[in-house]
Amino acid sequence: MYASKYLNEKKGLPNSKFSFGHNVAIQALRIKFLKPLNKENFLLGEKLTFLKTFLQQPTHIGAVAPSSPDLVRTMVDSFDWDQIDAAIEYGPGTGVFTEAILKKIRPEAKFFAIEQSKEMVEATRQRCPDARIFEDSVTNVQEICQQQSLQSVDAIISGLPWAAFPDVLQTEIMDSMLKVLRPGGTFSTFAYWQGLALPAGKRFGRRLRSTFSKVERSKTVWKNLPPAFVYRCVL
Ligand SMILES: C[S@@+](CC[C@H](N)C(=O)[O-])C[C@H]1O[C@@H](n2cnc3c(N)ncnc32)[C@H](O)[C@@H]1O
Repeated sequence: MYASKYLNEKKGLPNSKFSFGHNVAIQALRIKFLKPLNKENFLLGEKLTFLKTFLQQPTHIGAVAPSSPDLVRTMVDSFDWDQIDAAIEYGPGTGVFTEAILKKIRPEAKFFAIEQSKEMVEATRQRCPDARIFEDSVTNVQEICQQQSLQSVDAIISGLPWAAFPDVLQTEIMDSMLKVLRPGGTFSTFAYWQGLALPAGKRFGRRLRSTFSKVERSKTVWKNLPPAFVYRCVL
């Protein structure tokens, strides 16, 4: 326990209730299963990275596994990619949305992702070597857009665990996002199904309806851990 506390403090991470033993076990599994590196091992490695990062920072990650192929499809299909000149992804994690976005977005459109976890940035870069990823917080999106000479964007694809965030952080992220999303632009984000019954999830739904002119909800994607749906919001 003390070793885990020391390592977290050294890395500037908040201490979680999970022990050093958890991390050692995950690393041992990684070493045992990751040789030789093939697609299956790569995907297993990604899942372990996700789980490990969740154990270290549960409220930043908000999920124990990357989004499933069905949820990825529902998310990317919520945008009209032919109409998009500039898009940003929030919180790519291990890059499952990023990979699908790169297949859909027009080659001349501008696209980048913002991810605050170093480990997740590396995982996304491994999966999508062509993607531009900024290791930063999405609260700094306006500064990043300015650096990229972008005044506004048409689309924001979010993988953030909104319902796990405290109210002040939700407000900060939403306010900074509204400075870069153009009027009529689309914002999509997923939410876990159980969140519909929980106060934080209900609060987030109300926030979306009071911010955007149109808010739609996809059908529940049952093949996801946990089941989820996509909010598609138009400013
Ligand atoms: C639930 S994971 C989703 C990952 C991926 N989009 C998926 O669906 O599998 C949330 C991701 O958001 C990132 N994240 C959380 N807060 C963030 C912030 N303020 N700025 C940038 N990334 C953030 C986390 O590090 C994590 O990788």
